[in-house]
Amino acid sequence: MTETILHLGQTIRFDGDALRDGPSAARHERHGAIAVRDGHIVAAGPADTLRAEHPGARVEHHGAGLILPGFVDAHAHYPQTGIIASWGKRLIDWLETYTFPEEMRFADPAYAADVAARYLDLLIEHGTTTVCSFCTIHPASVDAFFAAAEARGMRVAAGKTCMDRNAPEGLRDTARSAYDDSAALLARWHGRGRADYVITPRFSPTSTPEQLEAMGALWAENPGCLMQTHLSEQTDEIAWVKSLFPEARDYLDTYERFGLLGERGLYGHAIHLEPRERDRLREAGAALVHCPTSNTFIGSGLFDLAGLTAEGQRIGLATDTGGGSSFSMLRTMAAAYEIGQLRGTPPHPAQLLWLATEGSARTMHMADRVGGLEPGREADFVVLDLASTPAIAQATARAEDIWEALFPTIMLGDDRAVAGTWVLGRRLKG
Ligand code: GUN
Ligand code: ZN
Repeated sequence: MTETILHLGQTIRFDGDALRDGPSAARHERHGAIAVRDGHIVAAGPADTLRAEHPGARVEHHGAGLILPGFVDAHAHYPQTGIIASWGKRLIDWLETYTFPEEMRFADPAYAADVAARYLDLLIEHGTTTVCSFCTIHPASVDAFFAAAEARGMRVAAGKTCMDRNAPEGLRDTARSAYDDSAALLARWHGRGRADYVITPRFSPTSTPEQLEAMGALWAENPGCLMQTHLSEQTDEIAWVKSLFPEARDYLDTYERFGLLGERGLYGHAIHLEPRERDRLREAGAALVHCPTSNTFIGSGLFDLAGLTAEGQRIGLATDTGGGSSFSMLRTMAAAYEIGQLRGTPPHPAQLLWLATEGSARTMHMADRVGGLEPGREADFVVLDLASTPAIAQATARAEDIWEALFPTIMLGDDRAVAGTWVLGRRLKG
């Protein structure tokens, strides 16, 4: 008989959409619990109730630790792990100076395997249990990533980054090979264990119309797959897109006209959107992925979280490693708060937490499996220490509710705040 384990601590769960409804959509238990069996959450609620319902369960006490779903990072580039925090460039120069030379190194499968392992171990340390990642143009970089995730039991989504122009020799495929390689990787990995394959044209400037068309065809043939790309990140980039696609109505249209706009599409950044783009994204139910540390680090601009939320867009949160400057979804929530402040609409901690878990899981169409503590979901969770450093502890000491107790950890916390990380019920950190 398989064992049931009760994890006791504080819990926060969401009844509804906390991005839209704020803290009223959240439920806090000072003495809460989750019951885990066979890698799944089988019950959640007050500790006393769960103890009575599961008298034979083994009990793990986390004290005042806060049990939360593992964080979900909806947009990252694992191959950029080594070049995170590279100085002094904006998007296009940054790609040419730091990113492309580093991505070139992934022609070596051993290097790809080494970085994939290092990256996923960093995620576990930071409490992130699911990520949607770009790989490089090399199919072996995709194999390396999925193999490393499988070895850790992690639910991940990823795909081969496709580029057939405006990238250096050695980092370009073709419309044909991008289609063939992506299709082969999709057949190999999509739905294998906890892996999801993501169709991945990098962004319009590095794809010919023929390649975008091929990616659109592949998505139409595999409508259950996610598709990820970048949209309207920097004003120079948008001007470049307009010069490359003079017939397009706007940046989004360079995807839309090739069948690359849809409900399972994830559009990273989406900072400088025109009204038509906002309308079409919402009508399509597409996901906008907010990458706040990247907004500031590579100087892109300020995502309109409040405005896009008010108009009913689907929104997720992400690090954008390594254009983003952190692996931590805590630091990412902090940056989202700061950008909200600069726009005059600071998000509530409940909204930030929802974005980093359930919201991102929804953008990846995985919220039935990860991103929450409700029974039936996979047991990917973390325990946060809300007093992990002296600076945080002294701020938390005066907290009068759970949000005041959590907010210093959001603003000042890092991997030290993550006391433990569990994947499918198995402890991988702590
Ligand atoms: N646009 C196209 N490629 C990239 C990338 O690797 N990072 C970011 N931040 N933006 C991009
Ligand atoms: Zn990106």
